[in-house]
Amino acid sequence: MKAFHVGAPNLAPWGEFARLARGSFARRWLTNRGPLVQQLEAELQRRLGVQHVILCANGTVALELAARAAGLSGEVILPSFTFVATAHALQWQGIRPVFADVDPFTYNLDPRSVEALITPATSAIVGVHLYGRPCAIGPLQALADRHGLPLLFDAAHAFGCADGGRPIGGHGLCEVFSFHATKVFNTGEGGAISTDDGAFAERVRLLQNFGFAGEDRVVALGLNGKMGELNAALGLANLRHLPRFVATNRRNLELYRQGLAAEPGLRLIDFSGQSASNYHYAIVEVDGDGFGTGRDQLRDHLAAQGVLARRYFTPGCHRQPPYNSQGNGRSLPQTERLSGRLLALPNGMQLGAGDVRRICRLIRSCPRGAISVGA
Ligand SMILES: Cc1ncc(COP(=O)(O)O)c(C=O)c1O
Repeated sequence: MKAFHVGAPNLAPWGEFARLARGSFARRWLTNRGPLVQQLEAELQRRLGVQHVILCANGTVALELAARAAGLSGEVILPSFTFVATAHALQWQGIRPVFADVDPFTYNLDPRSVEALITPATSAIVGVHLYGRPCAIGPLQALADRHGLPLLFDAAHAFGCADGGRPIGGHGLCEVFSFHATKVFNTGEGGAISTDDGAFAERVRLLQNFGFAGEDRVVALGLNGKMGELNAALGLANLRHLPRFVATNRRNLELYRQGLAAEPGLRLIDFSGQSASNYHYAIVEVDGDGFGTGRDQLRDHLAAQGVLARRYFTPGCHRQPPYNSQGNGRSLPQTERLSGRLLALPNGMQLGAGDVRRICRLIRSCPRGAISVGA
């Protein structure tokens, strides 16, 4: 039986990548903002409708650069229910992540929970568009404005998504993407910061290149956060095929919906409220009481058949090191509830329609009556 896993990369035909990579070999220009990085930045600027896109080595370093360029310090409020890199990028530079709870239906940052955590030490709010569903951008921006705080977004999951007709990428001070191999659009490893703020963009560019302002002139503590030309070549090749990747995700999600519709206790993520989606995260919420067994039992049942689903995200950041020993012991009821119930199913170009139907059959055949976890 064929195996499937969450995050199998979506790829352009080899020849399209090879042609671009060959050019970079011929030029002997592999990094330091070569023509392929510049071309991809320009294409992404057009697509996202923003003034500046700065390609980075990965999403985590892009988050670190964004936080540093924005001058963040002290405490930053963010959801606990996210991939741990959102928090690590802050903690890595001595900024304390303060974890807020999420909405039980959107799984995204709850502005009321954020407001309760604002103190004089707060220097920013970081929203996450979890699974590609835009977080409450308007209410969060109003809250940030009221308190004079910058609002940044971790848009690692949300390339190709939009909110109220406006692409994700153009909100807040900046938005940060991941183009990791597992993402709907990938450059192997990679990420980007998008912004309309020219001074901020200039600061990011300075910091991502060791703080060099000229050939021999260092003016700030920078790091190496640049994307290389071969990653940009993969990005340019893959970008041409994004509509096909998104259409396949959408078809797969619809088949999951049909295949699981009659199954009690399962709720598939819904992207219908947004003006554009990448349909990339096929998240199913397992209500252990309704389904008859828990999320972890379903995961184990699928794994035994070669279908590797992922518990995105278990546990919440506040429940794991180093954060669980930093006075983050406060309970976040929705985060804790959801981290015991959500399961990401395989999606993307690896799956034909028959494969999705087969995974649905496997889910329907999951033995019930085992101890339910996180119900
Ligand atoms: C929500 C979120 N933020 C940040 C990242 C970090 O991105 P990268 O893996 O490109 O460093 C990820 C990566 O998977 C993510 O899911």
